Amino acid sequence: MLDKLNSLFREVQDTSIKTKEELELFRIHYQGRKGILAGLFEEFKTVPHEQKRKTGKILNDLKMAIQSRIDAYTQESGSPEETSLSDFDLTRPVTYMEPGPRHPLSIVRNQIIGIFSRLGYTVAEDREIEDDWHNFTALNFPEEHPARDMQDTFFIEKNPDIALRTHTSSVQIRTMEKNQPPIRSIFPGRVFRNEVISARAHCIFHQVEGLSVDKDVSFRDLKQTLLYFAKEMFGDDTQIRLRPSYFPFTEPSGEMDVSCNICGGKGCNICKYTGWVEILGCGMVDPAVLENCNIDSEIYTGFAFGMGIERITMLKYQIKDLRLFFENDLRFLNQFKGAF
Ligand code: DAH
Repeated sequence: MLDKLNSLFREVQDTSIKTKEELELFRIHYQGRKGILAGLFEEFKTVPHEQKRKTGKILNDLKMAIQSRIDAYTQESGSPEETSLSDFDLTRPVTYMEPGPRHPLSIVRNQIIGIFSRLGYTVAEDREIEDDWHNFTALNFPEEHPARDMQDTFFIEKNPDIALRTHTSSVQIRTMEKNQPPIRSIFPGRVFRNEVISARAHCIFHQVEGLSVDKDVSFRDLKQTLLYFAKEMFGDDTQIRLRPSYFPFTEPSGEMDVSCNICGGKGCNICKYTGWVEILGCGMVDPAVLENCNIDSEIYTGFAFGMGIERITMLKYQIKDLRLFFENDLRFLNQFKGAF
């Protein structure tokens, strides 16, 4: 083995390294996983005990000789990967990197939060993985309601009690369980439904829920709150229209349309030539829901509403395909530069 090591010393010194490619070949030949050094260290295990000291030292010297040839080349060629921190000029100005724009859904969510904050609403968030009680039962959903169906709801590991929340209305329950009125809060968050992805539907989307519970809260308060919101969001000329509807957790329930901000109510393909677009569901909190949260429905009344952030964003910015929100295409996102 000693002879072999000696001739390897010569070989290492004599190999010419003139290019990066040659350096790489040299490195792999000697230091690679199946290279010369690896083989020698393997062979070293079989060296008789009394020769181990001497052979080991020479083997280590060879290892260092190989490394110093590599270092010598790198230093001469000034290869940038190998420069140490002290070679950097820390006083050099950096090139300006523009910050990424905020996502349009975040911009609109922040606007919604801003509008309701000015009305004295607080903001709260809660869990996305919910139990049946908070997502359905406490909200007065009958046992056989189709929204509980496997087809709409993502359940966790075949446990029918745990699901990804299908709406932010679950946070109404969480809030009322923890707080007695007066309550005036909004709850933004992500929701999940088992929908086929298309230009108009997605399995993940965003909602903002609103809840106001106090003595003497009436439908009139709901209507004025929503009118104020619509004007702040879409402009002072915006009108609203409430249509009767049904939700298990509100009685009476309604759906709210705003006058189409694109054609100004004259009729266009966004409003399907009706002059109106639906933006949210709302109603007076059903007394049974208040009682489920230990709030005395003889003393307190409340209203609630829930809106889809995607829908409002699409209307505001005339975005025709919901999928754009989730693709992270910079050509789309960069159009929202400067908005917060
Ligand atoms: N949770 C309903 C949905 O996802 C929206 C909704 C309707 C929320 C009426 C409310 C409400 O708070 O009062 O379709």
